[in-house]
Amino acid sequence: MSTIYAVTGASGHLGHRAVTELLARDVSPENIVAIARTPEKISDLSSQGVQVREGDYTKPDTLRSALAGVDRLLLVSGSEVGQRSVQHAAVIEAAKANGVGRIVYTSILGADTTQNPLAPEHVETESALRSSGIAHTVLRNGWYIENYTSQAQQYQETGAILGATGGAKVSGAAREDYAIAAAAALLDDATDGRVYELGGAAFSFDELAEAIGEATGTTIAHKDLPAEEYTAALISAGLDEQTAGFLAALDATIAAGELETDSDDLARLIGRAPTPMADVVRAELA
Ligand SMILES: NC(=O)c1ccc[n+]([C@@H]2O[C@H](COP(=O)([O-])OP(=O)(O)OC[C@H]3O[C@@H](n4cnc5c(N)ncnc54)[C@H](OP(=O)(O)O)[C@@H]3O)[C@@H](O)[C@H]2O)c1
Repeated sequence: MSTIYAVTGASGHLGHRAVTELLARDVSPENIVAIARTPEKISDLSSQGVQVREGDYTKPDTLRSALAGVDRLLLVSGSEVGQRSVQHAAVIEAAKANGVGRIVYTSILGADTTQNPLAPEHVETESALRSSGIAHTVLRNGWYIENYTSQAQQYQETGAILGATGGAKVSGAAREDYAIAAAAALLDDATDGRVYELGGAAFSFDELAEAIGEATGTTIAHKDLPAEEYTAALISAGLDEQTAGFLAALDATIAAGELETDSDDLARLIGRAPTPMADVVRAELA
C-alpha cells in the first residue's frame, strides 16, 4: 500500500514548496494531501493531481477530515502568533485520532534555550508531540533570509538597515532550503526522534546590508543602535509600542547569538550547502 503524505499550511511559502519538493522526489501526486484553510489558494496543486483538502487549525472537524488516511504529516507552524500552541495541539490530536504514524514539525532554532519571544509556542508544541506518542521529527528552523529581503524597499527608502543586534551574526537560510529539508525529513524514517537545528552560513548585518545594496544598486548602511534607541526609532516610524518592543526583543535574541548556529544539520538534510545569503538576496531582489 502506498504511503500518504500530508502537508499543512500548503498555501504558505514553506508548505507549498515542501509539496513541490515531494513531487520532485517522485512521490505520486495522488499520494500527497495538501492541507490549507483556503483550498482555492492552491488550485495549482490540485491541477497537478495532488489531493487538496481544507484544514483550519482553528476548526478541529476540518483537521480530522483532512488527515483521514494520512500516514506522515508535515505540520508547518501557523502564522497566528499567540494562538499557535492550541492550534498545533488540535492538529496533533486530529493526527492521533486518524492514526498518523509520523509528524515532522517546523520549530525554531534553539527552541529550548532561546529567549526569543516566538519560542514558547514551539516549546509547547514540541512537548505536545512528545506526549502524543506519535513518532516525530523536530526541525528547528533558523531565520529566513527572506525576512530581510521582504523589507528591501524600506531599506532602500531609508538607506539603512536599522537594528539592535550588536555585531552578532544570523545563520539565516533560504526558505526554500528549509522546505526541501522538511520534505527530505518527511521521506526519511531515519530522522524519527531527532531534533535538528537548521541554519545556513552565518552572516553579519554589515554583510547583509552590503548584499542588499549590491543587489538593488543602492547604498545601504547597517545602523546598529542601543535597544532603547531602536525601540524609540520604531515607534517614531509609526509602530505601536507593543510591536516595537516585540521587534526589539527579537533583535535582543540575535544580539545574544541565539539565531547563530554552527550546526550542519541543514546541509546534511538537503545534501548540499545551503544557498549563500548573497545568492538568495540577488535572486529575491532581481
Ligand atoms: N524562521 C523564520 O524566519 C520564519 C519567518 C516567518 C514565519 N515562520 C514560521 O514558519 C511558518 C511557515 O512559513 P511561511 O513562510 O510558509 O509562512 P506563510 O507564507 O505566512 O504561510 C503560513 C501558512 O500558515 C497557514 N495558516 C495560518 N493560520 C492558519 C490556520 N488557522 N489554519 C490553517 N492554516 C493556517 C497559512 O494559511 P493562509 O494561506 O490561509 O493564510 C499559510 O498557509 C510560518 O507560519 C511561521 O510559523 C518562520
